[in-house]
Amino acid sequence: MNKKILAELLTHSQNDMTRITAEYIIQTFGITIDKTCTTLEEYTNAIDIACMNRYFSAYWEADMKKWKYSGLQLIDEVNNLRPRAVLDVGCGYNEFKGKIKNLIGIDPYNVHADWKLSTLDYKTDKKYDVILCLGSINFGSRDKITAEVAKCVTLLADGGTMFFRVNPGLPHPKPESQWIEFYAWNVPFIIEIAEQFGLKILDIRDDSNQRKYFVYRKIQS
Ligand SMILES: C[S@@+](CC[C@H](N)C(=O)[O-])C[C@H]1O[C@@H](n2cnc3c(N)ncnc32)[C@H](O)[C@@H]1O
Repeated sequence: MNKKILAELLTHSQNDMTRITAEYIIQTFGITIDKTCTTLEEYTNAIDIACMNRYFSAYWEADMKKWKYSGLQLIDEVNNLRPRAVLDVGCGYNEFKGKIKNLIGIDPYNVHADWKLSTLDYKTDKKYDVILCLGSINFGSRDKITAEVAKCVTLLADGGTMFFRVNPGLPHPKPESQWIEFYAWNVPFIIEIAEQFGLKILDIRDDSNQRKYFVYRKIQS
């Protein structure tokens, strides 16, 4: 759950749910929610999704050229692996489409995705040789991040490779990103995830803009 939003709702409501009005929500978060909520948890999740949707569908801008390791360089790196299927999780504007072979992009908020849905909502029996998780498994709690990585591990073929770019919890400059909770990835967590899911760390580097770039390989069972 988004702790920033929950903290604001707890402070504002003072244990009185009638204080969470549509007017308060629009004034505080700049969004409206369609869903009828009865608990603070439901309000938090509905507001979180609406804030994410607003920012990533209308305000966030891509710049693939700015990355030292996790941008356009990946085109050759991934194609050289000769993958039969590549999944771009949280693909944004789907900029690798047509450049990396056999790629499909999923994203719940960007209309350029092949499938407009979240990582956890993507259901398939297909296995991918390569999965890209570039700045997209980075929102919300540690449990949510771990569940999203677990989902990617199930989608990855044995011996498959996952390329990551992660944010160490730094906010984006645009005010429309104010309520987004950026998970603070760090190297010990990257190692913990590898141990938990049977992944080998092939590479780990400091990318531009204080991001970390790293590569996991799923160890063959
Ligand atoms: C910082 S952008 C990075 C986009 C692209 N991968 C890139 O490198 O330019 C983060 C992306 O993650 C997407 N995203 C957010 N939550 C997601 C989720 N639960 N599942 C999949 N994608 C998500 C956003 O819509 C956004 O396009």
